[in-house]
Amino acid sequence: MKILAISGSAREASTNTALLQTMKNLAPSGVEVSVFHNLNVLPVFSPDAEGEKTPVAVREFMEAISATDGIIISSPEYIRAIPGGLKNAIDWIVSRYEIIDKPIVLVHASHRGDDMLTSLRLVLSTVSNNFLEHLFLRIPLIDKSPEEIMEFLRLPERESQIRSFLLNFAAAVHQSSEGVPNE
Ligand SMILES: Cc1cc2nc3c(=O)[nH]c(=O)nc-3n(C[C@H](O)[C@H](O)[C@H](O)COP(=O)(O)O)c2cc1C
Repeated sequence: MKILAISGSAREASTNTALLQTMKNLAPSGVEVSVFHNLNVLPVFSPDAEGEKTPVAVREFMEAISATDGIIISSPEYIRAIPGGLKNAIDWIVSRYEIIDKPIVLVHASHRGDDMLTSLRLVLSTVSNNFLEHLFLRIPLIDKSPEEIMEFLRLPERESQIRSFLLNFAAAVHQSSEGVPNE
């Protein structure tokens, strides 16, 4: 099973990317998580650049989505909203087929950001038939250094929280592939 983990932050020391990297390292056997943290390579969306004119970076991103069985998104809140880079990526996706039936879940690396989460939930339930809102993992990492994050995520209770979230998501992805609707 392939899972694409998309970070809404292009920051090198991003806490959201760190959370997704840890998920990659803790993935259960048979589940391969790849982390995408370069949303800043996608040009600004325009309907004029769709179809044959689709830029190479966007095509590669779509291919990564197409090849995956499920998507995890972890994003910061910027100015009480979805960061421009993530919203831009979703704008590219919306009129295409790749995303529509993919199981999608949210995780979040901050104790704040609920305006962004509300908005992102609305957007994802609009672009996808398979946004699994009932699966959600929040692990606040804000203001921690990369070293503190590594230490914090290595605590047995954190690891077990992450592993159990991934097992639940993998089960939901499997269920979807069998054509069984998720709650
Ligand atoms: C431009 C900008 C705007 C931000 N706006 C908010 C905000 O509205 N609400 C909030 O809780 N945090 C806000 N933050 C803080 C980030 O959401 C927070 O630092 C987050 O953990 C960064 O995620 P990252 O570590 O993955 O880059 C903002 C940060 C930046 C750079």
